Amino acid sequence: MKKNKKAFITGVTGQDGSWLADFLLEKGYEVYGLIRRSSSFNTDRINHIYQNPEINNKRFFLRYGDLTDSSGLAKLLHQIRPDEIYNLGAMSHVRVSFDLPEYTGEVTGVGTIKILEAMRTSSAKARFYQASSSELYGGMDCPKKGYTEKDPFYPRSPYGVSKLYSFWSAKNYREAYGLHISNGILFNHESERRGETFVTRKITTAVARIKTGRQKTLYLGNLDAKRDWGDAKEYVRAMWMMLQLKKPDDYVIATGKTYSVRQFLEEAFGYAGLDWKKHVKFDPRYLRPTEVDYLLGDASKAYRVFGWKNQTSFKELVHRMVDHDMDRVTSGEKGDA
Ligand code: NAP
Ligand code: GDD
Repeated sequence: MKKNKKAFITGVTGQDGSWLADFLLEKGYEVYGLIRRSSSFNTDRINHIYQNPEINNKRFFLRYGDLTDSSGLAKLLHQIRPDEIYNLGAMSHVRVSFDLPEYTGEVTGVGTIKILEAMRTSSAKARFYQASSSELYGGMDCPKKGYTEKDPFYPRSPYGVSKLYSFWSAKNYREAYGLHISNGILFNHESERRGETFVTRKITTAVARIKTGRQKTLYLGNLDAKRDWGDAKEYVRAMWMMLQLKKPDDYVIATGKTYSVRQFLEEAFGYAGLDWKKHVKFDPRYLRPTEVDYLLGDASKAYRVFGWKNQTSFKELVHRMVDHDMDRVTSGEKGDA
């Protein structure tokens, strides 16, 4: 009988890690997820897997560890010997990275070297996905059709700088040791599992709470920033597709359309029959010392090489997130009673 492929995911409890685990389990993989010890449960996004006795501890396994702990990572990779490694773990909040620059560097930057070293010494045949980011482009002038893999980087936050270190580390390990390592340069991607402190989910959660009388005001920072927002579920498929290619490389994953935070507000509030101007107030606490004003990606290389293309429209994405949060709030789910 053919053996299941094994995947190791750092950041399995996050938005992307949870969608990727769903996707790989569906494909028949054995999935090993790195989980951080926490004083409260941090498995909300994977409970549906974790609590499924058909899968849990049969094809889905959680292992304690941390990207700052190289010996733990080395031990895990030595034990598991995965076919594919997806490095999604990170301190991923751009605004917070200004408060925690050193920690962000340790986890989001040096953490990548720790897992790359663990791979090199014990799982050199594995294929490796590095979660790189459109934050790398930061302050560069954007070409008309969007940033491509050929455009230079100019990160604008400790998070972006840490991701730059990881991007180049991944590339260097590929070239120096001939390892199968790919960078996905993913533009913003959202879903009903997006963390509630990122702007899209903060907005859709507020829409649901305001609509049902649980909240009056939503405090936000810069409404002029523009982002290329896609659907996280589709983006994790692109991660997997990259690792199925014979040759490793770097790919932009994006929708090719960009919208401002203000346009997101208009769409989300409008969909619920609300006027955002009556509810949104400015709070300077949410501004960043240096902002990334404009992001637009050109994913034509990913389409050309492995046929990936964005399918969910901006409207569909916003409506799906609002619908989900309306259901969640009205059913009194955790944190919304
Ligand atoms: P997320 O929801 O914030 O998830 C981050 C994950 O990393 C969580 O599972 C978190 O664990 C884990 N983590 C944090 N610190 C860690 C540490 N020290 N050791 C091990 N794990 C740690 O992020 P996401 O949106 O899924 O993004 C996934 C990856 O893609 C991240 O690397 C992010 O920077 C990158 N990225 C995201 C986007 C986007 O738009 N979503 C775009 C480009 C790149 P806890 O649950 O315990 O906190
Ligand atoms: N979080 C947040 N909260 N952002 C706000 C707010 C607010 O109250 N008000 C305005 N914004 C603006 C931010 O200034 C930024 O310009 C934009 O909304 C998007 O912010 P986030 O949703 O926090 O995402 P991000 O673009 O900074 O970073 C996300 O995308 C990157 C890819 O480009 C994260 O997922 C990163 O991990 C990822 O690499």
